[in-house]
Amino acid sequence: MFGHKFNDEAYRRDLVDKIQKLKKAKNAVIIAHNYQREEVQKIADYHGDSLALAQTAVRTDASIIVFCGVHFMAESAAILNPNKKVLLPVLEAGCPLADMVTVDKLREAKAKHKGAVTVCYVNTSADVKAESDICCTSSNAVRVVRSLREKEVIFIPDKNLGRYVQSQVPDKKIILWEGFCQTHLRLSEHDVKAAMARYPGAEFIAHPECDPEVLAHAAAILSTAGMFKHVKKSSKNEFIIGTELGILYRLQVENPEKKFYSPTPHLLCAHMKLTTLGWVLHALENEIHVIKVDPDIAERAKKTLERMLEVCQETKEQVLGDGT
Ligand code: 13P
Repeated sequence: MFGHKFNDEAYRRDLVDKIQKLKKAKNAVIIAHNYQREEVQKIADYHGDSLALAQTAVRTDASIIVFCGVHFMAESAAILNPNKKVLLPVLEAGCPLADMVTVDKLREAKAKHKGAVTVCYVNTSADVKAESDICCTSSNAVRVVRSLREKEVIFIPDKNLGRYVQSQVPDKKIILWEGFCQTHLRLSEHDVKAAMARYPGAEFIAHPECDPEVLAHAAAILSTAGMFKHVKKSSKNEFIIGTELGILYRLQVENPEKKFYSPTPHLLCAHMKLTTLGWVLHALENEIHVIKVDPDIAERAKKTLERMLEVCQETKEQVLGDGT
C-alpha cells in the first residue's frame, strides 16, 4: 500500500553506522552494563559489571562517555570524571533499589548507630554516597567490609547483599537496610527448584541480590562479571543463571559450547531495557542527557568511590571482578 516494505535490518544497520561515525567524530566511548539489550551490548566498546564500568570510566581518555545503564551508574562515571561529558541516553532509566535510601533516613540511622561505618552499595544516588564512608559493588562487597577497622557497619540499601556479606564476615555486625531489587526478588525458590529439575545437569549460580532461600541453592554467588569468569573456567557445560536476562546474550557469545538457562522469564529489569540503539544515536547526536552532580556532593561522593577503588587495588582486584 505504501509502495515499500519497512526493512528492520536495514534500519538497524543504518543506526549502527551512524553511531560508529559519530562516536569517532566526537571521540566518544560507549559503555554498557551486562543487563543491556543485545543490540546495545553489540555496539558497546566496553561492557561489564558496576565495578568494571566504574574502573573503565576512570581509565578512558574519550571526551564523551555514553553510559548505557541506569542513572546511578552514569552518575558514578560523572563523579569520577568531572572533566568529561557523561551521557545517559534515557533519563528515566533509574534504579528503584537506589531510591530506597535517602540522605535523611541515612542520617537517622547514623545518629542511632554512632561509631558505625556506612558502606553504600554502588546502587545509590550521589548525595547518599556523599553521606557514606565507603562504596562497594557486588564484586567487592565482602572485601570492602573486611578491610574496615570498625566492627559495626550500616550497609545500604540492599538487604540481601548485606545478609550475604554478614555470612562471609561474621566478626562484623552488619546493620541491614530494608532495600531490595525488584527484579531479583521476582526469582522464587520454587522457580529455582523447577529449573533444577528441568535441567538436572546444570549448575545454578546467582547474584547476591536474590533472596536467601534462592541463594541457598546456588553453587556460587557472584556479581555479573564474576559469573563470566566462573562459567569460563568451570568444567560444567550447563548453567541456570539467577540474574537479569540481559546477561544471557554475551554469556552465550563468549561460551558457544556451553548452555545457559534462565529459571524464569520474569527476571527482566524494565529500566535497563529502556536504552535502545535509537536512543544511543539520539544521545550522541544531541549530546544529551548530560549527567551533572553538584560539585560539593560530587567531591564527597568521589572520596567514597575512590576509597572502594583503593581497596580493590590493594587486594589486586582484577578489572572484571571475581565475585565476592
Ligand atoms: P553487578 O555489579 O553485579 O553487575 O550488578 C549491578 C546491579 O545493578 C544488579 O542489580
